[in-house]
Amino acid sequence: MESTYDYVNYPFLKEIGIDQENLGCYNGHEWNGSGKFMDSVNPSTGKKIAKIKLANEEEYEACIKNMESIREKWFEFPMPKRGLIVQEIGDKFRQHKSNLGKLVSLEMGKILSEGEGEIQEIIDICDYAVGLSRTLSGKILPSERESHVIMENWNPLGLIGVITAFNFPAAVLGWNTAISMICGDLTIWKGASSTSLVTIAVTKIFAEVLAKWGFNGVFTMVCGPGSTVGERLINDERLKLISFTGSTGIGKRISSVVHSRFGRTILELGGNNSVVVMDDADLNMALQSVVFAAVGTCGQRCTSLRRLVLHEKIYDEFLAKLIKAYEMIKVGDSFDSETLCGPLHSKSQIKEYLEGIEEIKKQGGKILFGGKLYENFTANEQHLKGGNFVEPTIIEIDWKAEIVKTELFCPILYVLKCTNIDEAITINNSVPQGLSSGMFSRNMQNLFRWTGPNGSDCGLVNFNVGTSGAEIGGAFGGEKETGGGRESGGEAWRQYMRQTTCTVNYGKTVRLAQGVKFPHF
Ligand code: UN1
Repeated sequence: MESTYDYVNYPFLKEIGIDQENLGCYNGHEWNGSGKFMDSVNPSTGKKIAKIKLANEEEYEACIKNMESIREKWFEFPMPKRGLIVQEIGDKFRQHKSNLGKLVSLEMGKILSEGEGEIQEIIDICDYAVGLSRTLSGKILPSERESHVIMENWNPLGLIGVITAFNFPAAVLGWNTAISMICGDLTIWKGASSTSLVTIAVTKIFAEVLAKWGFNGVFTMVCGPGSTVGERLINDERLKLISFTGSTGIGKRISSVVHSRFGRTILELGGNNSVVVMDDADLNMALQSVVFAAVGTCGQRCTSLRRLVLHEKIYDEFLAKLIKAYEMIKVGDSFDSETLCGPLHSKSQIKEYLEGIEEIKKQGGKILFGGKLYENFTANEQHLKGGNFVEPTIIEIDWKAEIVKTELFCPILYVLKCTNIDEAITINNSVPQGLSSGMFSRNMQNLFRWTGPNGSDCGLVNFNVGTSGAEIGGAFGGEKETGGGRESGGEAWRQYMRQTTCTVNYGKTVRLAQGVKFPHF
């Protein structure tokens, strides 16, 4: 009998530890899964790839217990040695980059090159964390008191929870865990259910290296529904920090739950990113960057370009070039090397796209390109009919329309008009989200206006660079409804640590600060 699973057609899966039936929980010592079955589906074909047995609440509890039992030993293990473990993990990702990249592409739906790019992002952050493990430093400060010194030290925070989204099922875990591991924290990871195979394959790499070093329990993982396992995780007082990537709606709830128990959060929520093209810009550079940012990952990056703000003097010329470029974009199977725009991840993204288009029309938006489900398959592509394909879409609309303020997680690009840099900045800052932004111009005054205090209000403020595809070295995150968190490079490591200020008296007399006098006894 023919299997209902497509697993057999992807022999590379075996090489990265994926079977047709997989267990969805790793507690640091063993794999289990006594919850419901879940199917992983290929968004390009709609076919089931393999199945996963999800975790239940007892299995979650075993993860936390195992983490707690190794905590003190891990805290004491020197930071540069923790760095060596992260180095080995990075090397394993190097070794399996091609197969893991394929799995990301197969299960999430992004094109192969972007799938491999995601694994490269983990390799990069591991390298970065290794360097940090020998350079991360506190401070010694002068004291106002004679024979005193003040030290600011950094200690591990403890157990942390990382919840990631379907669109970056591997890299975002890498950002959090490479850094928090050298900081001395222990991670429990809940990936998006629909990308559970990626979660399992990535976990196997962490598990193998940590077991070799005798540090089982430093990293654990649960695949399970948000309503049970997810709720348990955010409410768990033993987890000092919850790092969450996902929608603003869920982020708001997580924020209130975690803060009400005085836990910390790192929130990476919605974006509504804009690129401004000024009249003096290099239009070809701008065009290439705009197309990648708007269409890459089928518009499902939190950094995807949603709003293109064109200076009125180049509006018609740029728009004509853009439409020509869109006409050349190959929509299709994420595994096909010709494809630039793969499928949306799931049927609920399709719904968001179609309902979004209807609302856009109601609010006066004019479709300049696309706007429908993609059905233009060749004779060789008939197997893609069950996939989640849509046409990359360009819309002309008033920048004040309500719909423009909402993030639609699909390849819909609004084209808006501005007359000068002040208006461009007003438009950029007019939405509730504040993740990423870019300006194209050759004018140095525009550069500093755009990146300065009254410029773009986003966390990522680029110049002659599009909104997506940030490197790991800089802090990644955004303001307003994006949640204010910072991950990856920069000073992000501080959030995974507990800062201690130590005042030391190396003299023989008690001295009080602020000149306070108190009798001696
Ligand atoms: C995300 O979409 O959640 O800057 C992360 C980028 C990638 C990361 C995106 N490096 O587009």
